[in-house]
Amino acid sequence: MGTRIAGTGIYVPKTVLTNFDLESMVDTSDEWITTRTGIKERRIAKEESVLEMAVEASRNAIEEANISPQDIDAVIVATLTPEKRFPSTGCLLQAELGMDKGFAFDVSAACSGFVYSLDLADSLLKSGKAEMVLIVGVEKLSEIVDWEDRSTCVLFGDGAGAVVVKLSEEDSDLLASSLRSDGSLWDLLYAEKCGYIKMKGRELFKVAVRNMEEVCKEVINRAGVRPEDIDLVIPHQANVRIINSLAERLGIPGERFFINIDRYGNTSAASIPIALHEAIKEGKLKRGDLVLFTAMGGGLTWGAVLMRF
Ligand code: UT7
Repeated sequence: MGTRIAGTGIYVPKTVLTNFDLESMVDTSDEWITTRTGIKERRIAKEESVLEMAVEASRNAIEEANISPQDIDAVIVATLTPEKRFPSTGCLLQAELGMDKGFAFDVSAACSGFVYSLDLADSLLKSGKAEMVLIVGVEKLSEIVDWEDRSTCVLFGDGAGAVVVKLSEEDSDLLASSLRSDGSLWDLLYAEKCGYIKMKGRELFKVAVRNMEEVCKEVINRAGVRPEDIDLVIPHQANVRIINSLAERLGIPGERFFINIDRYGNTSAASIPIALHEAIKEGKLKRGDLVLFTAMGGGLTWGAVLMRF
C-alpha cells in the first residue's frame, strides 16, 4: 500500500493587490519587484478569515477525493497565522467540516509546513494510525506584514491549499523524504508575538538555495532515481530567482519547475498545495509522474519529499 494524493482544493482571496498598487503605498516599483522576485500580484484576505479559507479549500479537496469528511481520521493544518492562539486551527476546521471522530492539530514550520505535514501524514498512514488524512496549508500573512516596510510587504500573500492523502493499492507512493531544521538561525526570519515579519533577505536567499539543493539531492539519491527522471518540481514560491538557482544546481530543466509566484507571491505554508492543485488542473502533473516538493522557511526549517503521483 502506498500514500496517494486523492484530492486537492484551494481558496484564494478575492482581493488582488498588484505591484502598481504597492507603488502608491511604499517607495517601490513594479520593475524592482518583478525583476528581484518574479511577483506581479498577490491576494489579500480582506473579508476572509484563516478558518474560512481553510474550510473552502478543504471542502474542494474532499469533494475531489470523492469522500465524506467523516472518512478522515486526521486533520493537519500547517500555518504560522492560526485563527486563534488556541485551540488549533485544525480543531476549528474539524468542527466546521462536521467531523466527530479522529484528531486534529497544527504544524508550525513556517514555509516548510506543508512538506513537514505531508511527511507526517505518510507516517500516520503507514504506521496504521490513520487511513485518510486532510492536510491544509493556510496563511493570512497580510495580518503580520508591516505595510510600511518595502523590503517585506511586497513579498507576501494570503491563501489556502488542501490535500487529501490516503493509503492506496494503486501505483502511488511517497518514495523518500528529508526534513531538517536549524534553530540557531531563527533570527533570519521571524515575527514576535503580535509583531511583524522580520527578515534578513539576502542571507536567507543563499541559505535557501543551498539547503533545498541538499535535501533534494538526498531524496533523489535515496529513492534511487536520477534528476532527469523527475517530471515536476513543485517548490515553495518565495522568489523566482531562488527557484532558478535551484534548477541549475539540481540539473533539472527550469520548465519542469511549477511557478505561480507571479500571481500569489509568497503564501508560506499555502504555496505548495496551491501550486500542486494548479499543476494538476493545468495537466502538468499526471498519474504516475515523479513529483518533488521542496521548501525552506522560518525556523529555519527546510525539507523535500519525493512522490510517485
Ligand atoms: O519564504 C521563506 C524564504 N524566503 C526567502 O528565502 C526570501 C529570500 N530573499 C529574497 O528573496 C531576496 O533577498 C529579497 C527579494 C527579499 C530581496 O532581494 P535582494 O536582491 O536580495 O535585494 P536586497 O535586500 O539586497 O536589496 C537591494 C536594494 C537595497 O537598496 P540599496 O541598499 O542597494 O540601495 C534595498 O533597500 O533594493 C532595495 N529594496 C527595494 N527597492 C525597491 C528592498 N526592497 C525594495 C523594494 N523596492 N520593495
